[in-house]
Amino acid sequence: MTIRAVVKGVGHYLPARVVPNSEFESFLDTSDEWIKSRSGIERRHFAAEDETTSDLATNAAQNALKDAGIRIEDVDAIIVATSTADLTFPSAATMVQANLGMTKGFAFDVQAVCAGFVFALANANALIVSGQAKTALVIGAETFSRILNWEDRTTCVLFGDGAGALILQADDGEGTNADRGVLATDLNSDGRYRDILYVDGGVSTKTTGHLKMEGKEVFRHAVDKLAQTAHTSLDKLGLTGDDVDWIVPHQANIRIIKGTAKKMKVPMERVVVTVQDHGNTSAASIPLALSVGKANGQIKQGDLVVTEAIGGGLAWGSVVLRW
Ligand code: UT7
Repeated sequence: MTIRAVVKGVGHYLPARVVPNSEFESFLDTSDEWIKSRSGIERRHFAAEDETTSDLATNAAQNALKDAGIRIEDVDAIIVATSTADLTFPSAATMVQANLGMTKGFAFDVQAVCAGFVFALANANALIVSGQAKTALVIGAETFSRILNWEDRTTCVLFGDGAGALILQADDGEGTNADRGVLATDLNSDGRYRDILYVDGGVSTKTTGHLKMEGKEVFRHAVDKLAQTAHTSLDKLGLTGDDVDWIVPHQANIRIIKGTAKKMKVPMERVVVTVQDHGNTSAASIPLALSVGKANGQIKQGDLVVTEAIGGGLAWGSVVLRW
């Protein structure tokens, strides 16, 4: 018998305010046409002034709990992947814990920027298979609108706010690829590339800072590293792109998504794409896409799902799971 961390529920939350590309045309030298053709993004959601990352995360968590039919009393770990927590400390995860009325177990944040949800999922899986948690709430939540430079057309048109959440629970498996749950993970980072995507502020520099990105350089790394990490995870299971029902990629750019799917030899009909509606929501993008993919009937129980993401660090990784 093998312990597996199985998906029991999924949910998401998007702030009410929808911002179409055309809104940027009023204060920047940009166009809907440029944004759409270079990134695939058509609109994104921005949080209200008084809405924080833990608010978005809490709403997504409530939807995931409802979907799973699980009470908060049965959750023993909350992991929030975010780079935009409400406060320097405590973690956004402990705020979500309090919001949900959970008074036992433990909660912490994971910070691996756009790869954060993949890192959080791998951590939750490790906690469950090692017996340290039975039921984990894994959330990706961001308010990137707070760290954008509205005068920098090369970055501010690309990002959005949102949250997605998964409930993972320990189940007995047979130890084969037919088991439901997380089957393989692969995590990587290389700090030599920290200067191509970063925020130029933080606690020790006494500023909040703004997001800075050398988009072309990140793009160049993205397709290679994403295909490589997905193959590494699949190789661990003796599987290939042919076995994959759904790629649920980090949603940064439709050209990166297409390029990675091509390298993996998976047709776009088997890729969940939400970038047009959400923009790049960093650590929230994969759980948002999982939730939308399930809600619109794409992802079904038993499907083999590959998630892959890359972001600041650089940090990148993948998780293969059977839904
Ligand atoms: O989530 C973390 C991972 N992040 C990513 O994966 C993002 C990776 N990078 C990208 O998605 C793309 O590189 C971008 C979408 C950021 C940019 O696309 P690109 O095809 O690499 O464009 P570029 O940076 O080469 O810019 C092409 C031109 C430039 O003008 P010149 O130098 O050719 O005259 C830019 O100044 O487009 C210009 N440009 C814009 N024009 C209109 C840059 N931003 C804009 C804009 N509107 N918003």
